[in-house]
Amino acid sequence: MDTGSKREANSVFVMFGALGDLARRKLFPALYQLQHAGLLEDNCLILGVSLEDMDEEKFREEIRSRLDTFVKGEAPNPDSVEKLLAKLSYVAIDLAQAEDYAKLATALQGIQYQDLILYYATPPALYAVISEHLSNIGVVKDNTRVVVEKPIGHDYASSTQINNHLAQFFRESQIYRIDHYLGKETVQNLIALRFANSLFESQWDHNHISHVEINVAESVGIEGRWGYFDKAGQLRDMVQNHLLQLLCLIAMDPPSDLSADSIRDEKVKVLKALKPIPHEHMDLLLVRGRYARGIIEGKVVPGYLEEEGANELSQTETFVAFKAEIANWRWAGVPFYLRTGKRLPEKLSQIIVHFKPAAHYIFDPDQKRIAHNKLMIRLQPDEGISLQVLTKDQGLDKGMRLRQGPLQLNFSQAFQAGRIPDAYERLLWEVLKGNQYLFVRRDEVECAWKWCDQLIAGWEKLGIQPKKYPAGSWGPASAITLIARDGLSWHEDL
Ligand code: BG6
Repeated sequence: MDTGSKREANSVFVMFGALGDLARRKLFPALYQLQHAGLLEDNCLILGVSLEDMDEEKFREEIRSRLDTFVKGEAPNPDSVEKLLAKLSYVAIDLAQAEDYAKLATALQGIQYQDLILYYATPPALYAVISEHLSNIGVVKDNTRVVVEKPIGHDYASSTQINNHLAQFFRESQIYRIDHYLGKETVQNLIALRFANSLFESQWDHNHISHVEINVAESVGIEGRWGYFDKAGQLRDMVQNHLLQLLCLIAMDPPSDLSADSIRDEKVKVLKALKPIPHEHMDLLLVRGRYARGIIEGKVVPGYLEEEGANELSQTETFVAFKAEIANWRWAGVPFYLRTGKRLPEKLSQIIVHFKPAAHYIFDPDQKRIAHNKLMIRLQPDEGISLQVLTKDQGLDKGMRLRQGPLQLNFSQAFQAGRIPDAYERLLWEVLKGNQYLFVRRDEVECAWKWCDQLIAGWEKLGIQPKKYPAGSWGPASAITLIARDGLSWHEDL
């Protein structure tokens, strides 16, 4: 084929919002790691698009300095940095101006490419306008992939609107909706753990599991994002996406294979079976909280209403805990307790599956309360899995006293894996390969919103306000009562 003087590329990756926060903190460092690992093809090109007027040399220098700041762990390898920078070019565009897109068309016309990947690292309000202009310049083809970030809407109605806009230009198989939790190593390991070990799958139901906890704690506050966060709150920011995705992976039935749709079909079934929280009992089943001034890692930190740009009339929650139930055969009667918040004592995400005690107990009665197994899946930090088992305490004088101890698998120690890849590395790699299984399908987003909408409607109707908790604590006291009412407590690492 005559390509004239065109550059040839297997894939072209167009990044809208190339100088924004997400690109700076996550996307370029992830592309660097892919480059460093030898996973970016030599003939892959990355075209940055942003408003700022600058030439390609300046853009490359910008990215170089961002890599120095945001690549974690070892300093970036100079050779890999140069190889990545050589793949970059830049076009300055005002995304709202139709005529500006001619510049992008010209840049793309200069390349003979096979795959085109459009990454919208922009506010969702721009998705429709960007898609329309791109379609007008003829770059949206059947094999074009588009990657979009959360939040997909603010509620079910607005998410439908965004999804409808995308659907005007792209088929569902072309749309990659990011939930970065799905790119985390341990989250993917849930699939291997559950479906490659018959040991677990045969025990994975209401006959053997008494309850499940999903805890996603952050020690950071809202990090200068008051404007965004106050309109969202912890439920929309974290539960609608990350926590419900974790719930789906824990609760779903085995998919028939590992294809994107088999997995997503099973996740949607969980979301559809998630019982709405009845409004009349909501004050017993749900707690909203908001951090007040407190101490984190020995330093005094401001309360939510004292953060920069805060409006003291805000009613937004920075913490939410609730008890959920899944109305299906597998999970009948098993409570799922979910808890997430900002300015908690540490950054810690873990899932704890509590198994029922043995059917007939024969040991000392005073030890009965410790006699059950727990599977702890730690997503971050120190990714790993640990199974709490009961053994006999050693020693002649101990008789048949029981002892709880972990069978432990810490991923970096056990597999000497060195660094565990960041979620965005995995996700960008999957987009480049055209594999959708770690991305969220439209019906998942919409089912999750419907469930959250009923919750929000309930708390608005009942006037459930966020309760204060000091920064550095595990949330309002009522979150402890929420689980204590069922004779249980939140898991604490010893
Ligand atoms: C984002 C939320 O999706 O996830 C942030 O918008 C939150 O508020 C972040 O801090 C947490 O991600 P991670 O990977 O640090 O647990």
